[in-house]
Amino acid sequence: MKHNISITKVTESQVKNLDFSNIPLGTTFTDHMFICDYDNGEWVNPRIVPMGPIPTHPAAMALHYGQAIFEGMKATVDEEGNPMLFRADKNAARLNTSADRMGMPHFPEDLFVEGLKQLVDLERQWIPPTDGSALYLRPFMYADEPFIGMRAATHYKFIIMASPAGPFFSKRIKLWAEKQYIRAVNGGTGEAKAAGNYAAAIRPTELAKAKGFDQVLWLDAVEHKYIQEVGTMNIFFKIDGKFITPKRDGSILDGITRMSVITILRDKGYEVTERAITLDEIQEAAENNTLEEAFGTGTAVGIAYIQDIGVGETIIHVSDESPVGLEINETLNAIKTGKIEDKFNWVTKVESVLV
Ligand SMILES: Cc1ncc(COP(=O)(O)O)c(C=O)c1O
Repeated sequence: MKHNISITKVTESQVKNLDFSNIPLGTTFTDHMFICDYDNGEWVNPRIVPMGPIPTHPAAMALHYGQAIFEGMKATVDEEGNPMLFRADKNAARLNTSADRMGMPHFPEDLFVEGLKQLVDLERQWIPPTDGSALYLRPFMYADEPFIGMRAATHYKFIIMASPAGPFFSKRIKLWAEKQYIRAVNGGTGEAKAAGNYAAAIRPTELAKAKGFDQVLWLDAVEHKYIQEVGTMNIFFKIDGKFITPKRDGSILDGITRMSVITILRDKGYEVTERAITLDEIQEAAENNTLEEAFGTGTAVGIAYIQDIGVGETIIHVSDESPVGLEINETLNAIKTGKIEDKFNWVTKVESVLV
């Protein structure tokens, strides 16, 4: 379906004020944003407008009852400077999975992708060209109906904003296996990219950091025994030459990097099994010297190599090298920047129409 997206451009772009060699994390936004309103049961008035604050009623339901979901993705450029999107259709579908769980309306997936393309086309000068840099894209939806009372809202906003992100230098990370707080339980909201999941993770993450760790390793809510995921990443282990990653059971996010890494690993001939994984078996593998690699996967970092996992008083030392993780990270980056053939058909070039 072709959508009619109206466009109001800024009179002067602020891109000239951005120092591409020193991009502050998450605080710089591009000139424009995409907005669409949900009103009377349908999405109306898709538009690209100058970036700026949005008047919000204090009774807006998202602020009280938490109907707020989001996505995270990146636009990169190929060697000729053409913007590219990575598996945008998967983000569009995942937003609607989150919407289902949170009692929110679906957003049309073709309009999601079209809005992204038009915004990225308009903001192409904001995409940092250096290796590992990207334009971070944040599509999100929230209930903006002013109402006090517990029911699904009838008015929502869907917005896409964009923020340039410098190269991410991945140091090896230390995880804290959390046995007091939990992130998600079967039947809960763990598989949704819902704002509240992140709010509930803030305090445990602060406590883990105070103990000298970088991120929380979330365990299952019932026995604190099975590994779920990490902060904003899914997790993989390589034991005795084979990869394992926690299976999706409704409590972990269906990571787009996770699904891509599984495909790339299998394509390179590695065995990958999605199954329940206990912390104990990781500890045993470390003791037997069969734990060869562990890494987290996510849009923000690509692949983050794990050095240690703190379990109470003990530390599971993983390894000091991740040759396969490194190779997979390079393959992913090369696909995203058009340096190798996109044999899985994951990348969409953004045509130059608006600028
Ligand atoms: C809780 C959580 N798990 C995993 C991921 C990784 O997902 P993706 O690879 O789609 O970025 C993210 C990031 O979006 C996340 O927030």
